[in-house]
Amino acid sequence: MPGPTTLDTPLLIALPGNERFAQALGVFGGEIGTIETRRFPDGETYLRLLTPVAGRAVDLVATLAGPDPDFLRLAFAADAARTQGALRVRLVAPYLAYMRQDKAFHPGEAVTSDTFARLVSSLFDGLVTVDPHLHRRAALSELYSIPAAAVQAAPALADWIAADVQRPLLIGPDAESAQWVKAIAERIGAPWVVMEKTRRGDYDVSVDLPDLSGHADRTPVLVDDIASSGRTLIAAAGLLAARGLPKPVCAVVHALFAGDAYARLQAVAARVVSCDSVPHPSNAIPLAPLVAAALAALHEQPRN
Ligand code: R5P
Repeated sequence: MPGPTTLDTPLLIALPGNERFAQALGVFGGEIGTIETRRFPDGETYLRLLTPVAGRAVDLVATLAGPDPDFLRLAFAADAARTQGALRVRLVAPYLAYMRQDKAFHPGEAVTSDTFARLVSSLFDGLVTVDPHLHRRAALSELYSIPAAAVQAAPALADWIAADVQRPLLIGPDAESAQWVKAIAERIGAPWVVMEKTRRGDYDVSVDLPDLSGHADRTPVLVDDIASSGRTLIAAAGLLAARGLPKPVCAVVHALFAGDAYARLQAVAARVVSCDSVPHPSNAIPLAPLVAAALAALHEQPRN
């Protein structure tokens, strides 16, 4: 009996480190395919698709927390799938890299968000990601020329907070965080506030806070999209301590946690949790149900 040849049963292929997320997506439909990949002694990439892709719809699952070492391998996988006859090749990147350098802040700087978007758009027929860092751009379609869905993690974060935190007070560390803090707070009927952040450098962040005297009986929950150096959340937790509030629960979408950021944040937080867009010990909130729904809803045209 021939295997599936329509776009309805995607072949989910995980790049290394993404196997668990691909398996979780597979629960909602799709078949798990496999690749073999390794580095040659000189550092170049060997890659082989072990599952036949001809006539199949292929979804490559690759979070992009380490884009510089990982992206070329992903490009090889996408191009191999296409040249071997895949009907459609989409990228499932729960964390989408290169979204923050979205303008030339100084003369001569590369606008890497745009370059990266053009590269991805040239390789894939569609993209699904979670809470991309859209700041000066309103939508992924302003950067990406392929159909692209931005899943919101707020419902998953909200459900975790509602189940695990008593009387939460949602706090965003900066103005940008208002969008998801408000969405979470409204879903669970909790109060919310947003700090003011000043960033002077990668590791130099300070925050200011509105009056919280009316919320003394609440558990502070700091929510942010990305924890990278961790300095934003560490500064926010420090300010809460200075105001006599309890250690906060910290909930982030994308747990990048560079260097010792995770240990430093754990030292000032009651608990640190994250969504599973980037594999990390803090992962507690699964995103596969939301991502699977977005994949099912993404409409794109197969390329010729
Ligand atoms: C900034 O706009 C983001 O929403 C995060 O607050 C930021 O990326 C966190 O970075 P870090 O952990 O390095 O302070």
